[in-house]
Amino acid sequence: MKLAVFGATGRTVLLQCCSAGVEVVQQALALGHDVTALVRNPDKMKDLVPDKDFKIEKIDFSSPESIEPHLQDKDAVLSCLGSKLAPWSTVTLFTDSMKVIVSAMRKNSIRRLVFVSSWYLTDDPKDPPPFLTRWVFKPLFTGRIFQNLAETEQYLQGCDDIDFTAVRAPRLLPGPVTDMEFRTEEGEQVHDREGMRPGICRADVARFMLSTISSEEWVKKCVAVIAVPKK
Ligand SMILES: NC(=O)c1ccc[n+]([C@@H]2O[C@H](COP(=O)([O-])OP(=O)(O)OC[C@H]3O[C@@H](n4cnc5c(N)ncnc54)[C@H](OP(=O)(O)O)[C@@H]3O)[C@@H](O)[C@H]2O)c1
Repeated sequence: MKLAVFGATGRTVLLQCCSAGVEVVQQALALGHDVTALVRNPDKMKDLVPDKDFKIEKIDFSSPESIEPHLQDKDAVLSCLGSKLAPWSTVTLFTDSMKVIVSAMRKNSIRRLVFVSSWYLTDDPKDPPPFLTRWVFKPLFTGRIFQNLAETEQYLQGCDDIDFTAVRAPRLLPGPVTDMEFRTEEGEQVHDREGMRPGICRADVARFMLSTISSEEWVKKCVAVIAVPKK
């Protein structure tokens, strides 16, 4: 398939690992897909993925015309865009960028979109997050990011012509891709995780994203995912 990937650079130095977007590019290439990485800093991308057999295009979300031409002929779009923790400022990256991406997809008649979202976006009293997440991490750190991710999911639910999948991930961990099996649930979290720490490595998030692009199973859905050892 011809894939466009947003958010294909990202952190590596502190965590000593690739971002989910870098993993998507690397795994997509290994699977034989035709990949175009749409990034704001192409030089960074060249250092991150040694494979030269893909296109890198510089984009700027404040300029939709920097994006539209690069989606021509693509079969699907994957987004691993992420916002820095900004506890004191409103986060709009996800909605702002998604509106530009959707507009560019429409101009190019592309329907399929898979993007990284998160567990625990809402504080649904019927399915609340763990105590620390609800009362410490969300109020202090991740709340505004979660709010904007929730707004992004709501926006896409109103886009009848976009076949989106929101891949809701728990805490992202470093580490190589595994062959663990995925547990999934349409909801705020996966409950059946056999006492495991709720975390998933970025490489497995990428593996799950790529497994969904040509499947109907999670179209127009928000799916919480985790990887557990095979029995
Ligand atoms: N960290 C967690 O525990 C956790 C848990 C659940 C879900 N998530 C979600 O998982 C996703 C991926 O996280 P990650 O840690 O792998 O990614 P990351 O290292 O934060 O990378 C984010 C990517 O978004 C790009 N980006 C940010 N703002 C941009 C802009 N204005 N224009 C163009 N590109 C922009 C970055 O580009 P640059 O390299 O140029 O900055 C980078 O490629 C995020 O959506 C995050 O919210 C994270």
